[in-house]
Amino acid sequence: MCGIFAVVNDKNENAPQTVLDGLKKLEYRGYDSWGIAVRKLKTPIIEVEKHIGKIGEAKTSLPPSRVGLGHTRWATHGGVFDKNAHPHLDSKKQIAVVHNGIIENYLEIKEELIRKNHRFLSETDTEVVAHMIEETLKEKKDYSIGDFVAQVFAAFKRLTGSNAIGVLDSKTETIVACRNGSPLVVGVDERNHQLFLSSDIPALLKHTKKVYFLNDNEAAVLNKNLFQVYDLKKEKPKKIILETVNLKISDAEKEGYPHFLLKEIEEQKRTILKTIEKNQDRIREAAKFVKSRKIIFTGCGTAYHCALLGKYFFAKSGLAADAIQANEFSAFRYLIDDKTTVMAISQSGETADTLLAVKSAKKNKAKVLAVINSRGSTLERLSDFFIPIQTGPEIAVVSTKAFTSQLAVLYLLAKILVNKEKVALMKIRLLARKLSHWLDRGLKDQLINLAKKLLKEKHLYIIGKELNYPAALEFALKVKETAYTHAEAFASGELKHGVIALIEKGIPCFVLISKDEYENDLISAATEIKARNGTIFGVSPADAPVFDYHIPTPDVDELTIIPNIIVGQLLAYYLGVGKGADPDKPRNLAKSVTVK
Ligand code: M6R
Repeated sequence: MCGIFAVVNDKNENAPQTVLDGLKKLEYRGYDSWGIAVRKLKTPIIEVEKHIGKIGEAKTSLPPSRVGLGHTRWATHGGVFDKNAHPHLDSKKQIAVVHNGIIENYLEIKEELIRKNHRFLSETDTEVVAHMIEETLKEKKDYSIGDFVAQVFAAFKRLTGSNAIGVLDSKTETIVACRNGSPLVVGVDERNHQLFLSSDIPALLKHTKKVYFLNDNEAAVLNKNLFQVYDLKKEKPKKIILETVNLKISDAEKEGYPHFLLKEIEEQKRTILKTIEKNQDRIREAAKFVKSRKIIFTGCGTAYHCALLGKYFFAKSGLAADAIQANEFSAFRYLIDDKTTVMAISQSGETADTLLAVKSAKKNKAKVLAVINSRGSTLERLSDFFIPIQTGPEIAVVSTKAFTSQLAVLYLLAKILVNKEKVALMKIRLLARKLSHWLDRGLKDQLINLAKKLLKEKHLYIIGKELNYPAALEFALKVKETAYTHAEAFASGELKHGVIALIEKGIPCFVLISKDEYENDLISAATEIKARNGTIFGVSPADAPVFDYHIPTPDVDELTIIPNIIVGQLLAYYLGVGKGADPDKPRNLAKSVTVK
């Protein structure tokens, strides 16, 4: 939630444009507003530009500069107005601050500062940071970099909550970044002596692949002569080793697709198998972490649906496991002990609720196994073992390819545990082959036409049974978040227990079916809906007379749920486009939910 990007020593003295380009790559982290602060070239003056809404094709009119700091916001404190957009300044306009997180004690700090005659211009929690630094620096008339750095550290250490900040000082032309709970990564372009600060990797790829992921309670000081990481607790410099990230610029580009979402849906033809090929050994090793232990899967949103499917996969292998939504984890924390392995599923590895769940599990001495996409994340560091699914950056806010790769990992893990690795691998390869033929123009045209038919519908129902029930939940979530259409998933067996009362003439009901022992149950449920004049859309390998409309999916045994879900992803995409929504950036959402 919220994206931070900064450049120090911009080689073209075009920091405004460099920061703007960086923010465009981070916009998926929040798109309520954006803003940039730069230090003017010859005078220690900060100039700021702020706008509400998405960046889109925005241009900047800020003056040339070597140092700039920007932010793209997902609003927490204060409405979506220019005044609440970051960066925020101190009273003298010498210090600019951007922030990702929530400062839980900001009101207490703000009141103190108001008593000292500070005037606040925004309703945000962030603005206090600029004023705190101003207040403590005012005693030092001619302050040095060291003084500035010390005051940023002091201010940051007073904040409670999960936070990451970037602070630009116009006098010393220095940026200080501090992290506790929200991600920050420093990019080092050694050739051009430029330094970058970013919330995530995609924004850095254009400049460098050499990075350092800040850990919690670390800070980085960046200026034209210096890059130093500090241990915030000891306030001492630290030696670090830069990492080289294994991604291409094109991984973070649309590559001719109208939207990242469509690109990422299509990439699933390759990503699922790629994840498995790259991680086969790690998945085998992960099996040691779970063998003979109590297993609890956790995650939020789509990652929770993956967790739930993990529970089903394990159950089908005769292995007991539970799945708990990370945001409901606290109710079950007493069930966690040193014999438990918590399997945390997360694309970003930064979801606040998932991190809280994992921390509470660790307190109870559980082992944590994480299945994540973004490298260097907090979850990766907190875990005892992790599987990096390596699908490449997932830029669309809505999760698709990360989900199916994580699912394939859990499937293979469940099979390895019962010595069925070979068969599972065969099925995953078969799935990849079938997806590459099936996910074609024909399927897309069919779903474009279907989306046109369904554009005006207010409600869609999706039913499934066994593996197709969590699949239906995921199908429904895609439609809700991408097309803003109310979509509700039900276990088909629940219909008679109340839900069937919702069925009225013409209401669209999707039925997700695989060629398995539940096929007939689902056909019966569809028939009951049809008897009440519902319209049946069958998503399944085989057609059936009860279907008003059939969307054929390839038969890959229990993995048929993956193409069944992909139908939901594509339908949601075309519905969203048809409704004029932005499928890459659905309203009110952000890619990584770093606040609880
Ligand atoms: O980064 P994570 O996988 O931890 O994110 C979890 C959820 O916030 C995420 O899956 C969310 O539900 C997406 N909007 C799904 O498309």
